[in-house]
Amino acid sequence: MMQADKAAACHGLRIELGGRVVLEHVSFAIEQGEFVGLLGPNGAGKTSLLRVMLGLLAPAAGQVEILGGSPAARRSAIGYVPQIRTNPAGLSLSARDFVAAAAGGSRWGLPILSKSDRADVEQALDLVGGAALADRPLGSLSGGERQRLLLAQALLGRPRLLLLDEPLVNLDPHRQRDVVELVQKLQRQYKLAVLFSAHDLNPLLGAMDRVLYLGGGQAVIGNVGEVINGPVLTRLYGSPIEVMHAGARIFVVPGAQP
Ligand SMILES: Nc1ncnc2c1ncn2[C@@H]1O[C@H](COP(=O)(O)OP(=O)(O)O)[C@@H](O)[C@H]1O
Ligand SMILES: [Mg+2]
Repeated sequence: MMQADKAAACHGLRIELGGRVVLEHVSFAIEQGEFVGLLGPNGAGKTSLLRVMLGLLAPAAGQVEILGGSPAARRSAIGYVPQIRTNPAGLSLSARDFVAAAAGGSRWGLPILSKSDRADVEQALDLVGGAALADRPLGSLSGGERQRLLLAQALLGRPRLLLLDEPLVNLDPHRQRDVVELVQKLQRQYKLAVLFSAHDLNPLLGAMDRVLYLGGGQAVIGNVGEVINGPVLTRLYGSPIEVMHAGARIFVVPGAQP
């Protein structure tokens, strides 16, 4: 393969978990600086695909390249916000120390940081508009504010590709919009490639360049109009799907049997 000009390229991926095929025949590429929405219902394989792209899970078949190299070789170029967020350090930790806990190569302890690591932490806090939160205890922050700190952690070390796993869950629509706008601002300012997973496409409609849709164990990529329509999703799922438009919003629903 070798697609060094792409932020990510996957070819013929098959992902199996517990002896079951979760996804197969998955091929797509993400351009540098591109914002791709990773969509699909719960259980479609979004988290599994992100874990394969990080090199945390080996695919049963196929290849993954990140910036022309293996996921392991490019790990420092990837910023990741996982879906399951443990908070091992506790809620009395300050926002700054929470971000710092991910710096210096250690996510689990409180490392002793070099001057440049400390500068990196302050810069990441600034990038997410978190400077004013820095001294507050984690336990006093809202879901949206904590989400910004997780994003700050992912931005440490200046990644080229951001993998965000359902950062909108548990946020109200207003905070969801704030998070999407912040990610879009960072994407544009730093030419970051973004793969942003969500089970509802509506919050991402204004921000996505393209959508990577998972369903029925397979994937389809394209712009919203190309992918989010009845015929394409019906073929993907292998059962009738209707796409309804309500004002600016789009709903994917099981369709009537023909
Ligand atoms: N460790 C595991 N062992 C077996 N099956 C798993 C495991 N983790 C997830 N799965 C299954 O794999 C499928 C995809 O899960 P996941 O990638 O978490 O989907 P999503 O993030 O889209 O909700 C689901 O059917 C889930 O139940
Ligand atoms: Mg998931």
